[in-house]
Amino acid sequence: MQSPTASAQRGSWGTRLGFILAAVGSAVGLGNMWRFSYVAAEGGGAAFVLLYLVFVALIGIPVMTSELVVGRMTQVSPLKAVTKLGGSQWAPLGWLFVFCGFGILSYYSVIAGWTMRFAFDGIRGAIPQDTAGYFNAVGTRTPAVATHIAFMAITIFIVMRGVKRGLESAALILMPLLFLLLVGLAIWSSTLADGGAGYAYYLKPRINELLDTRIITDAAGQAFFSLSLGMGAMMTYASYLQGKQSLGREAVTIALTDFGVAFVAGLVVFPIVFHFGLGEAIGLGGMLNTDNTVGTLFITIPPALQSLGKVGNVIITAFFVMLFFAALTSAISLLEVVVAAAIDGWGWTRHRAALLSGSLIIVAGLPSAYNLNFLAMADKLIGTFMLMLGGLFTAILVGYYALPQAEAELAMGMETVSMRKAWATIIRFLVPPVLFVVLIFAVPSVVGAVRALLGV
Ligand code: TRP
Repeated sequence: MQSPTASAQRGSWGTRLGFILAAVGSAVGLGNMWRFSYVAAEGGGAAFVLLYLVFVALIGIPVMTSELVVGRMTQVSPLKAVTKLGGSQWAPLGWLFVFCGFGILSYYSVIAGWTMRFAFDGIRGAIPQDTAGYFNAVGTRTPAVATHIAFMAITIFIVMRGVKRGLESAALILMPLLFLLLVGLAIWSSTLADGGAGYAYYLKPRINELLDTRIITDAAGQAFFSLSLGMGAMMTYASYLQGKQSLGREAVTIALTDFGVAFVAGLVVFPIVFHFGLGEAIGLGGMLNTDNTVGTLFITIPPALQSLGKVGNVIITAFFVMLFFAALTSAISLLEVVVAAAIDGWGWTRHRAALLSGSLIIVAGLPSAYNLNFLAMADKLIGTFMLMLGGLFTAILVGYYALPQAEAELAMGMETVSMRKAWATIIRFLVPPVLFVVLIFAVPSVVGAVRALLGV
């Protein structure tokens, strides 16, 4: 049983909308724009988008439902939830979650720092024509460390304020702003000449690519990263839920909104890429290796828009401010997983947990700020591989060790019997084998990223 102070430290959501926006805020982030566009550009285009949608629907939504169920049912942090359900031998899964939250935020914050830098310099009209050179100057070393620390400071501040006043109010303000900005940009993009070729690349799949194992792996990994799955983030957010809403419906809402945002982001980016002839610069068709592609969005968007003069600078700034907001609501959820573990597990106060773990994450992010190959490697190893591993074990835990409780919890939201059975079947018999195979497919890209880092 929790002491009253412990649950006061944990907190809970004020409204259903607050929860949904916070969960959507976690899902919608750099993953939808920075990562989605560079992975789609690296290979596949429309084939990638289609496979990504399939993974979101068949694997993402059932796994998300599982995470939400576990969170609300246990009312504790993921670190404790897994042992509560499966016994102490499941403790390593909880630690894997905490490690992923810690590890992803360490490099995520470096990228989020770039958005701050570009937004600032955009408004001052201080982004030079040569954005590749500029990106190299501000994207690594001291300037990157500075913006990384600034971004973490803001994240820590919000998480310290707690669930209602921090997480929820940030989401209520930031998410609607983001949607407005994004739709505005997509409309502007649609007016560009030659945008049609961009739409075609993005929307017309070439059938042979649908069977390419690398594109399949990329799509699966992207589904996990973008939906914030596989490391207990959704579990943590659901543990602050008290209502009896339908968790299946919430999972569908969150997943489709996240897909919608990524999709619209593609509608913004690809016409720009083709209108301004940036295909080669972003490595369409996998012409560049990872260390160049991580900067794709930052290198391509500004020169495209600068051609518009003053208006361009305003749009650049709007774009990066929006990315910054999106990154912030995601970073909050990453830090929250670590903080929740510290509050529940070691009885820390929220303040102390946020400050201490946030400071450690600042230090852990330094290698990524100094070396983009390290960042890319961390993104492949933790942001793809370990998340899918976490998802695989979550499905096994829920499907084979806690199914009756989980079904009872789902039933509280009045999901019909047939829907619960369908979900249980997918979680037991579809998700584990599919993820197992995809994990094996993913090994070469992790090895490749490690080799690029070591220069061998
Ligand atoms: N989903 C976020 C994005 O798309 C990143 C993120 C936030 C995340 N929390 C997470 C990824 C938890 C995996 C797990 O940018």
